Amino acid sequence: MDFYDVITKRKSVRKYSGRPSDGQMSALKDFIGGIKPLYGNIGVKMILAGADKVKGKGNGAEDYLLFYSEDKPNARVNCGYILQKAEMFLQVNGIGVCWYGMGKTELPAECGYKFIIMLAFGVPEGEQFRELKDFKRKALKDTADFESEIFDIARLAPSAINIQPWRVFQDENRYHIYRAEPGFPHAILGKLIVGMNQVDMGIYLSVLEEVYAHFGKTAVFTAETAPARKGLEYIISVNK
Ligand SMILES: Cc1cc2nc3c(=O)[nH]c(=O)nc-3n(C[C@H](O)[C@H](O)[C@H](O)COP(=O)(O)O)c2cc1C
Repeated sequence: MDFYDVITKRKSVRKYSGRPSDGQMSALKDFIGGIKPLYGNIGVKMILAGADKVKGKGNGAEDYLLFYSEDKPNARVNCGYILQKAEMFLQVNGIGVCWYGMGKTELPAECGYKFIIMLAFGVPEGEQFRELKDFKRKALKDTADFESEIFDIARLAPSAINIQPWRVFQDENRYHIYRAEPGFPHAILGKLIVGMNQVDMGIYLSVLEEVYAHFGKTAVFTAETAPARKGLEYIISVNK
């Protein structure tokens, strides 16, 4: 099983029957130490913590991966990108995982970085995976103005409340990727949901990069002067 397989089979796991083994935890530590960020100019820190360090209802995991970042533009996109690699790594290794935006922690990062979000994980109780037909996602035509097998798979990425804020438009040479501002009823959540959707955009880019690789292509993300679009925030562009 590789990251691409996980993308086409994964689901959020919220019930756990046990904790990862010491070997799985040390493999995770090694892996997260080697993840290349999307934005190399933003300092980040990841901390593994037990349930005693996490507040919030709705998740019974005993293990969490907490993400902290320097407070800079694109910090949340960068966070989503990095932590999604860890999400896929856990799943490849048989561990169930769920993004946990409602989770809070008072554990400080020694470097003073700001807490952004966490993953909850553990040995899955029940099925870890599902079939492609069981994904609930917007149709490709509602998120992109072109047809593409790669983007059709990438839209399976997870997002907060399954909002799927990514919108993609093509020009002659590149795809331009935008974040949709939340509409009704999610807009009521204000900054909270905008912040989560910025994390979602990083998740999407992380998944998209793996799908490119599966199809033998290298995703090269660049900031371009993409056209302004109503209700959308431009995030980044990628090669065709
Ligand atoms: C940024 C983010 C935050 C999330 N926060 C929570 C959460 O607090 N609680 C929860 O149960 N699920 C949470 N989720 C999981 C989503 O609800 C889930 O990914 C989405 O509904 C799609 O379902 P799937 O992951 O099974 O494909 C979060 C997902 C993301 C990407």
